[in-house]
Amino acid sequence: MNVNDIIKFLILVAVLSSFTYAKKDNPINEIDTTASSIEIKVDSLLTLMTLEEKIGQMNQYNGFWNVTGPVPKDGDAAKKYEDLRKGYVGSMLNVTGVENVRAVQKIAVEESRLGIPLIIGFDVIHGFKTISPIPLAESASWDLEAIERSAQVAAEEAAASGINWTFAPMIDISRDARWGRVMEGAGEDPYLGSKIAIARVKGFQGDDLSKVNTIAACAKHFAGYGFSESGKDYNTVDVGTSTLYNIIFPPFIAAKDAGVATFMNSFNELNGIPATGNKYLQRDILKSKWDFKGFMVSDWGSISEMINHKYAKDGKHAAELAINAGSDMDMESNLYVKELAGLVREGKVKEELIDDAVKRILRVKFQLGLFDDPYKYCNESREKEIIGKQEFHDAVLDVAKKSIVLLKNENNLLPLKKNGQKIALIGALAGDKTSPLGSWRIAADDGTAVSVLEGLKSYSGNSIIYEKGADVTIGKTEFISELTINETDTSGFAKAIAVAKSADVVVMVLGEHGLQSGEGRSRVNLDLPGVQQELLEAVYKVNKNIVLVLNNGRPLAINWADEHIPAIVEAWHLGTQSGHAIAQVLYGDYNPSGKLPMTFPKHVGQMPLYYNYKATGRPTIPAPGLVFWAHYQDEVNEPLYPFGHGLSYTTFKYSNLKVDSSNMKEIVVSFDLKNTGKVKGKEVAQLYVQDLYASVTRPVKELKGFELLELHPNESKTIKFLLTDKELGFYDNTGQFIVEPGEFKVFIGGSSKTILEQQFELK
Ligand code: BGC
Repeated sequence: MNVNDIIKFLILVAVLSSFTYAKKDNPINEIDTTASSIEIKVDSLLTLMTLEEKIGQMNQYNGFWNVTGPVPKDGDAAKKYEDLRKGYVGSMLNVTGVENVRAVQKIAVEESRLGIPLIIGFDVIHGFKTISPIPLAESASWDLEAIERSAQVAAEEAAASGINWTFAPMIDISRDARWGRVMEGAGEDPYLGSKIAIARVKGFQGDDLSKVNTIAACAKHFAGYGFSESGKDYNTVDVGTSTLYNIIFPPFIAAKDAGVATFMNSFNELNGIPATGNKYLQRDILKSKWDFKGFMVSDWGSISEMINHKYAKDGKHAAELAINAGSDMDMESNLYVKELAGLVREGKVKEELIDDAVKRILRVKFQLGLFDDPYKYCNESREKEIIGKQEFHDAVLDVAKKSIVLLKNENNLLPLKKNGQKIALIGALAGDKTSPLGSWRIAADDGTAVSVLEGLKSYSGNSIIYEKGADVTIGKTEFISELTINETDTSGFAKAIAVAKSADVVVMVLGEHGLQSGEGRSRVNLDLPGVQQELLEAVYKVNKNIVLVLNNGRPLAINWADEHIPAIVEAWHLGTQSGHAIAQVLYGDYNPSGKLPMTFPKHVGQMPLYYNYKATGRPTIPAPGLVFWAHYQDEVNEPLYPFGHGLSYTTFKYSNLKVDSSNMKEIVVSFDLKNTGKVKGKEVAQLYVQDLYASVTRPVKELKGFELLELHPNESKTIKFLLTDKELGFYDNTGQFIVEPGEFKVFIGGSSKTILEQQFELK
């Protein structure tokens, strides 16, 4: 033994002393003292592990049998159980509830040789049992504190149920409403998306991962998944460096800087190489350039899917490609556990890469405090006490109200009067207690959302008559099965029309079922699904006083409604407290303040549609009637509602824009915002910039600042933004961040259709 070896041995002794839970004959028990640094502990533990045990840490299994039941004897489950006992499993997903988590953890900790605890993962996307609005909806609040609080609530409930790792936040930028997973992200803008990524990471992880109410977060899907061609899930992605660096990467950099513990790669190929086997993305960018110290989990089966991509020839090849590219943990391909040891022995995979992956995984387990107490998330009385706490319901209600966007409000039809009104409430979604929970809320129980019907009824001064008019879906509505949309049954129309006829106001809740968006739920049509458009038009014929409340997980093309219906409220899928949030907004107890995080198109054919587009060589009509310019023959270029749009029950005036560029390091933009209406209200003041000429063309407008503020009637405030290199620079086509002197424009307003603008020169 040389000196280094002796030091190593002593550290080992120190580290392993903390494994108090290990069974008696565990080698860990032979050593005893104290060491503090996680890095030392990780290194030391690694020296104790066999190659197979190391690879085991890189293996993640889905919950595979009723863990509280008898031990499985045959087939897949038996093999997985054996692997767990041998220490060949580092993580499990989709095991929830203290009793179940304890059962699997017990096998890993008390039956395997080294007793290394499992990290328990789950898709805690927008709540666990108490459900927040879908992430796209929450993003419409532009309220970073409320969003952080929502993630905190989710983390607390999940942690109380035995979970210590969420596969969230999903921070894929997407510009295509056809893609069902837009519901899970923050929309189309990298600046807003980055701020929200930080808020969510902070919400899940808190300031200390080892606390019992925080869980490890996961920035996903790295990278480019939101750019799936034609909005079809899992489809090919082909984007250039400029889009990759300026649009797709920023939220990932923000999440990494906020300390996110893990990343997940993605199902798509990116420019010909599946993300899972993409060394450039995972090793060169994430782990080297950005110096990310956490670990990368594959997406579900994405290692084996490289065979379908025609990139790997078989499972063994796929495992080799994935580890060499930097995928540290295999979610459910079962290929690392099967192939990696052989690949190392054959010299196709260097053991250093295995060591690096295992260190990354162990590091997160140490940070979570799992080695101090592997059962720290497994406390039955905590589970009972925490889940569904009133303060969680208050928090999800708060963010739900803030997520609602008032799209249109002609003649101040809203807010509704609280008394003496006969209100016809129409639409199957109005009475639905499951759909508002939205997609990706797998731990929540069906039927636990407050429906709009219940929400409106809790205000007792009006008479509410409910008729569903038509179903949105027929038959099963399950997370894993295709939905059937009602395209034909209009038998309920007559009753709906009858109640509408005699009502003072008709509230129609129409749109997508909660499971019509999400993974695998792409659409080629962005209209109201099924017979709902027909229902809307039929009711309109007898009563024009309609408030349309939209439920949806993506932007919809609702031209007809915009032309005819006086009031339109975007209410997404708002979670457990949905009905209360909608009622509070409709009655004016909460003055709507949401702003769209994604552009709403006039027609699906405009997809992908986004506000920060590039000018073309022929951007504007040269003269009426001329054909050779960038346009469609049958639809305008403009969206129905622009990014950032959202009205209030009050009005705001923007004025007095000043740009002080005397200090080039910090350009000061200031303007006045005044509440010019009759009620108190919140506004999201937005700042956009344009780099007028650049060595790589820049978008016509880019969001670079926003402030959410509340003003009383007649109250006015001066708002200041600072523009530094960070806001004015961009990534060139080699991935370098550069700032180019020249002419810039700054735009201010309450949406991306801005009101004030001024030019300045950056020297
Ligand atoms: C999704 C991931 C998710 C994983 C585990 C995959 O199908 O793409 O986002 O975290 O399943 O449920």
